[in-house]
Amino acid sequence: MSGNGHMESIIVTRDLRKEYVMGTETVHALAGVDIEILRNQYVSIMGPSGSGKSTLMNMIGCLDSPTSGEYVLNGQAVQDLSDDNLARIRNREIGFVFQTFNLLPRATALHNVELPLIYAGVSSRDRQQRAAQALEIVQLADRMDHKPNELSGGQRQRVAIARALVNDPSILLADEPTGNLDSSTSEEIMDVFDTLHENGQTIIMVTHEYDIAARSQRVITLVDGKVEAQMSVDYYLARGLKQPTAAPVAADPPASPQPEPARAPEPAPAPEPETAPEPTPPRETAPSPSPEIAPTAPPPTATPVDPAPAEATPPAPGTPRPISNPWAPPTTPPMDGGR
Ligand SMILES: Nc1ncnc2c1ncn2[C@@H]1O[C@H](COP(=O)(O)OP(=O)(O)OP(=O)(O)O)[C@@H](O)[C@H]1O
Ligand SMILES: [Mg+2]
Repeated sequence: MSGNGHMESIIVTRDLRKEYVMGTETVHALAGVDIEILRNQYVSIMGPSGSGKSTLMNMIGCLDSPTSGEYVLNGQAVQDLSDDNLARIRNREIGFVFQTFNLLPRATALHNVELPLIYAGVSSRDRQQRAAQALEIVQLADRMDHKPNELSGGQRQRVAIARALVNDPSILLADEPTGNLDSSTSEEIMDVFDTLHENGQTIIMVTHEYDIAARSQRVITLVDGKVEAQMSVDYYLARGLKQPTAAPVAADPPASPQPEPARAPEPAPAPEPETAPEPTPPRETAPSPSPEIAPTAPPPTATPVDPAPAEATPPAPGTPRPISNPWAPPTTPPMDGGR
């Protein structure tokens, strides 16, 4: 904990690796990832299906431990922590949002948001108060008593965001948070993220969609378990991505080995959201404030476009593989007052 705020690294990884041994084969899901993310940054992670995005999120979120490498979260080396300590840090530092919301179907919005606090042993009164506050932040004060099936997709995701925030985490991690939402609802969710970011929240978000990524400050592209490129969002905007009104980019980095990838990556060959086929309308993206990370590498020869728009989602709906859904209901849900 080094003081307050500015330019402070909240996440540093060095040569982070994750291998899965599958029979005789070893999958290098992460093949040496070095990233640094500062407090209050808003970062997108992009890359083709299978490139290791969710694996990286799981490591960052302390849902799983790397095979090797270093990971310093908020000043603390987490790579050697025991599972118990990992769980403690996870609860304190990390809020998760998933593509599939992962709400308890039979619990009200309020109760869903209370859940992390139940696990943290917070008293019933405090819980309700804090959960209600979190729901207010996502503008669902009037839907607290609704169950998930009585809410729209966007509202469900907002409940999930409230749940992620209720512990006041240092980092909000979102793995394709708009993957199941139509474009206007996606925008709603991105507006929530903008507000959170303005209020100081550090956000790391996986997305397949360039116009969603363009709402963040910085894009980290993974390919084959490695960081392929780190771009400022201006890089993407410069290539004509969903910024019809924006002044065409003075943001291009000085002419260096900047191969002119003239072809703008096709906006969002996004994974087909089952429900929302209409094409994403232009967004008014507030030109992102922080191009502090200029492209470090010339863009990959093949622009970081997802070649395979990904089968809608990987395995078990919404569950990060290593440890299953952190908010999965416990076998005996401590529903009633958590006594
Ligand atoms: N528990 C696991 N066991 C074995 N292999 C795994 C496991 N989890 C992930 N992998 C493999 O690791 C690689 C990275 O997977 P990951 O889920 O991180 O990709 P992703 O970039 O999130 O893809 P998508 O865009 O499809 O969500 C893939 O090749 C995947 O098959
Ligand atoms: Mg994934």
